[in-house]
Amino acid sequence: MKGKHIVLGISGGIAAYKAAYLLRLLIKRGAEVQVVITPNGKEFITPATLAALSGKPVVSEFFAANTGEWHSHVDLGIWADLMVVAPATASTIGKMANGIADNMLITTYLSAKEQVMVAPAMDLDMWRHPSTQRNIATLRRDGVIIVEPASGELASGLTGKGRMEEPERIAEAIERYFNNVESLKGRRVVVTAGPTYENIDPVRFIGNYSSGKMGFAIAEEFASRGADVTLVAGPVSLNLENESVRRINVTSAREMHTATLEAAADADCVVLAAAVADYAPERSEERKIKREGVEEMTLRLVRNPDIAASLGKEKGDRLLVGFALETDHELDNAHKKLEKKNLDMIVLNSLRDPEAGFMKDTNRISIISRDGEVKEYPAKSKREVAADIVDAVTARLVR
Ligand code: PMT
Repeated sequence: MKGKHIVLGISGGIAAYKAAYLLRLLIKRGAEVQVVITPNGKEFITPATLAALSGKPVVSEFFAANTGEWHSHVDLGIWADLMVVAPATASTIGKMANGIADNMLITTYLSAKEQVMVAPAMDLDMWRHPSTQRNIATLRRDGVIIVEPASGELASGLTGKGRMEEPERIAEAIERYFNNVESLKGRRVVVTAGPTYENIDPVRFIGNYSSGKMGFAIAEEFASRGADVTLVAGPVSLNLENESVRRINVTSAREMHTATLEAAADADCVVLAAAVADYAPERSEERKIKREGVEEMTLRLVRNPDIAASLGKEKGDRLLVGFALETDHELDNAHKKLEKKNLDMIVLNSLRDPEAGFMKDTNRISIISRDGEVKEYPAKSKREVAADIVDAVTARLVR
């Protein structure tokens, strides 16, 4: 981040003291930082400390009290390469989401032409509140990068999610942003996500517990790096934040097979994160099956096409990344799938791991490469896991 201009917005919460550490880390890494603090922020950390660390007077009011000089939020928006709000309280997040420009930090945000990143910090109940979650979703839709709060002991004495992420992790997210922006411009990527439903009759189906969170996070991450992304999604209730992603909704494995193969025809990379049903009922009844007088029922299942294996057969230069969801002999089974489906990489996650798998917000993965290399990662949010996967893909695609 050497030479980069960063606006550091600080709002009023206990975590404001951590902003001083973050500021130091950014300066150490060569960034030029302008601090903008809310009136409440000054109750938690003094502008004198922040000015000394940044080497610049801290901006807080619209006018300098002694000279009447106007602080231009518009100029800051032009100057900055990135705006980071850390800590972002529930109130500041709400104002950002709704354009309530009653302080210098929010006017700077509304004038920002650059990417904005937000590190929320609040008590667990405030974080969980539907109002906060709605505001966070709005910010995400508006293209703001959210550095998810961590779980742990909170200022209130309670334990849970809401604590601002550590300064080192925020600095890493900033570094990653500067390294990655536009790094995949011009690359075409297809991602599959979610479950498939195999109809038994118009009411019932065979499905699985996939929520689509993992695949959607991967699609979002590729898009944030400038790739041209097509997401083939099974039946899930998720929305995409990045409007540039082309979404194709499908229901069954056969539909997913057709849509994915079509989209993959001119792709540079395909990532198969969907949990595809391996079998489907031989026939789907047109009318609801009645239970009266039926004590037992046998469903005859037939094999679905294997999307990964079909792509592996005609691989060409395309990079193929599969997933392996296992309950036992994880590494062994993942290696076998990699070989059998002719993949370049396989991402292993285990259903035995309480922080991994279906529906969770976190995942713990290992990435296994064709050359036998196995890289293990700690449990992280699915968006961070997606970033690790896209890093691994980028290392292969952009050489
Ligand atoms: O959606 P979430 O709730 O966030 O959960 C994420 C996840 C657990 C679904 C995801 O991380 C994951 O592991 N996805 C793959 C699940 C799976 O079906 O794994 P598998 O080991 O059965 O399949 C191996 C690979 O072949 C996968 O890449 C799968 O997409 C692909 N496959 C499988 C069957 C089939 N007919 N066609 C395929 O392409």
